[in-house]
Parts: sequence; structure tokens; C-alpha cells
Amino acid sequence: MKIRVPATSANLGPGFDSCGIALNRYLTIEIGVASAKWEVRHEFDEKIPSDSANLLVQTALKLAPNLKPHVIYMHSEIPLARGLGSSSSIIVAGIELANQLGKLNLTSEEKVRIATEIEGHPDNVAPAVMGDFVVASFVDGQVASVQHRFPEVGIVGFIPDQQLLTAVSREVLPTQMSYKEAIAASSIANVMIGAILNNDMKLAGQMIEQDLFHEKYRSSLVPHMKIIRELSQKFDAYAAYLSGAGPAVITFLPLEKVKIFVDALNKIEYSGAIEVFKINRLGVEVFDNRL
Ligand code: HSE
Repeated sequence: MKIRVPATSANLGPGFDSCGIALNRYLTIEIGVASAKWEVRHEFDEKIPSDSANLLVQTALKLAPNLKPHVIYMHSEIPLARGLGSSSSIIVAGIELANQLGKLNLTSEEKVRIATEIEGHPDNVAPAVMGDFVVASFVDGQVASVQHRFPEVGIVGFIPDQQLLTAVSREVLPTQMSYKEAIAASSIANVMIGAILNNDMKLAGQMIEQDLFHEKYRSSLVPHMKIIRELSQKFDAYAAYLSGAGPAVITFLPLEKVKIFVDALNKIEYSGAIEVFKINRLGVEVFDNRL
């Protein structure tokens, strides 16, 4: 049996800790034979545990402590600590692993709730479970989420070679904001979401770039963001934003502009991978080997 979980890009500017999209890059785990001990055969570096201390197994055991150990093969196209939801993908895979091996019959809603409790915010885990574009909240222990179709647009990611840990990227955020600024920030987020639901990417993009919640505080950690945003404006992009806690930057633009924008992005002075993404519409999927 294989479990496949999509990469995700959270925030979309003002949808901080709330909005995210699923992308067509994947973490795939294959459940091998039952074994005396858990063994996770992965391709990450040796700092990532290969035994029951691995986040995948830890997550699965939280839900089903009596699961029989197995050999698990893990392959990920989602780079670690870049803002593309790598840890969320492992948490969601761990929940699905427990769901399948432990026959828990979890609903999507339950998976999102459990994953959010583990991750602390729903913006990556919710689209990783449900796919497409998800708007979610986690307030006073209650999770609410709504999935909606994201418009067909060009999606170009710039993924710097260097990692940026979420904890480091959250340390620069303020602990408080004024009532007036909170109203302004949330009204920008509201219009952003409404415009996406209305297929109006031009207006959505304007709102994305007016984020007041996090990007300005993080700008010194991600100097390439300003360069990419300025460049994207020359190609009539809708918006460029910090993907999750960064350092990846995602640009939304008309599909026909993708190629020339990628060519231009290749010439900037920062080193990183450039990837063209599509929206993943389905979220976590389970493939039975017998099929
Ligand atoms: N919303 C989170 C952040 C995503 O921006 O810090 C990363 O976990």
C-alpha cells in the first residue's frame, strides 16, 4: 500500500496561519513488511531518524499506540524547511498510516483536526489532507475548514538553496498588533479570499501583496522576496508571496506568462530551484498495490 501526500503553500499573504493550497509535488510512503521494530527508509540526511523516533511513526503511534511495527519506504519531492509543507506532509502521512493499518475509518474532517492539533496551525495540513485551496481556523481548540476550487493560474516557485526553520521565521513576528491594524489586516484577507472564490486573481493578487500580518516582519530573512516581487510585476503577475514561513516565494501569474517569467527568474542573483507547479485537487491519497 502507498500513501501519497501533496506539498502545500501556506498563507498566500494575508491568509496567515489560515489559508493554503496543495501543489503537485509529493511525499510518498510505501508500507513494507511487518517487522520487529519500526524502520523508516528515507532519503533525507542522517539527522532525520530512521526508527520509531521518526515524525511519521510518532504521529501514527499517537493515534494508534498498538500498531504493529513495519518497514516503511519514504520518498519525498518536498524539500525540508523551505516553506512547502514538508513536515505537514509527514504528519498527514502518519495519520493516514494509522488510519490504514489501524482501520480507524477517519473522516477528512477528523484528519484535519488531528493534524492541526499536532502542527499547531491548519494552513498546511488542511490542504495536504483535502487538496486544492483550503481556508481554515484553529481557535480555542476548535478547527473549522472550507475547501474551494483555486483558479487555473500559472504557479512558479523559487526555492532557495538555504533552509529557513519555521521557528526562526516565527521569532521575528510581533506578539501583538493594534485593534485598528488587525481590522485592516483581516479585511485585506477577507477580500483576498472572496476574490479567489470569484476567480478574480487580479484583485486577489493585490490583496495578497498587501499582507499586514507577517511578510514585512520576515523581509530581512528573505531578501530575494522583494527582487522576485519586483520582477514578477514586469510580467503582469498577479502576486508574489512568501510561501509559508519561507524561504520559498510563489508567484501567481497568467499561464501564458509562465515561460518568460521562469527565464527571467533564472537570471536573478540568488541561487535556488525554480519550479512550475500545478494545484493538487485531491489531497492525501491511498493506493492499494493490488490495484
Ligand atoms: N503559517 C505558518 C507560518 C506556516 O507562516 O509561520 C509555516 O508553518
